[in-house]
Amino acid sequence: MALDFFKVQDHAARYRKYRLSSPNEVQGLIVSYLQRKKGEPFSLAVDIGCGSGQSTRGMAPYFEKVIGIDVSEAQIEEAKKVDGPDNVSYRWGFAEELEFEDGSIDLVTAGAAAHWFDMEKFMKEVERILKPKGCVALYCYEVPCLLNYDNCTEHPAQIVQDLFTILKPYETKVNKIVWDEYKQVFDAITFPDKERAEDIYIKLKKPVSWFISYLRSSVLYQTYLKNDPENAKASLEKTEQRLLNTMGVSSETVVEFGVKYFCLLASKPE
Ligand SMILES: C[S@@+](CC[C@H](N)C(=O)[O-])C[C@H]1O[C@@H](n2cnc3c(N)ncnc32)[C@H](O)[C@@H]1O
Repeated sequence: MALDFFKVQDHAARYRKYRLSSPNEVQGLIVSYLQRKKGEPFSLAVDIGCGSGQSTRGMAPYFEKVIGIDVSEAQIEEAKKVDGPDNVSYRWGFAEELEFEDGSIDLVTAGAAAHWFDMEKFMKEVERILKPKGCVALYCYEVPCLLNYDNCTEHPAQIVQDLFTILKPYETKVNKIVWDEYKQVFDAITFPDKERAEDIYIKLKKPVSWFISYLRSSVLYQTYLKNDPENAKASLEKTEQRLLNTMGVSSETVVEFGVKYFCLLASKPE
């Protein structure tokens, strides 16, 4: 099962190194929504499917306490390895069975994780644990795209697209939920007061080698690697070579990427 990849220590370590931390733009948007809908105090936020804490730590400045929850012990172990703010802690647990008291939580978040949840069960738990007017924020992002190399003989986006064409047979319904920008997830949110924030676009600078490692760390690529290791390795090497050749850079050259985020926000009725 694809979800099992998260339980493997190597994969969890790759995640810690190569996945994106939630940007300030997204954290800020969520906190101002909570401010608008419920207001302070901001006592407790829980981040479900926290992985190695990329989406959890950024919430620390806004809350008295932040707890990251993940079903993978390997991911929780990786999260605990990162020096983090003192008010952040991590626990093993399921999105569908949250061990919190009724009406005790101000904010529930899930970064790049809600597509894995049983949304019906998750929403029942969210409804139960949130305080009146408490909020839930479910967000994700698209594959980073290389900027400033539009005039190359081969367009970098086409090279990346060619890899995704090879990966297509390994796509699951989970990938499709993300490609659809969480339309299904939005429909599954049971609170009437809900909205979608789109076009949150951030830029970041990273070496090309980071991008290749990022692609390698995806469950989609790892599924290909498990099923057809030789061709999977060759495809990723070819993708890297084609990018380096057309861009005229080395794998350690720092380049600019654009990343599009989308975020679903909802508030529990009073
Ligand atoms: C793609 S990672 C996202 C990690 C991190 N939140 C981030 O922003 O990169 C998805 C995480 O969700 C966790 N997960 C998937 N289904 C879950 C469930 N039902 N309950 C709790 N965690 C779950 C996985 O173990 C994995 O660590």
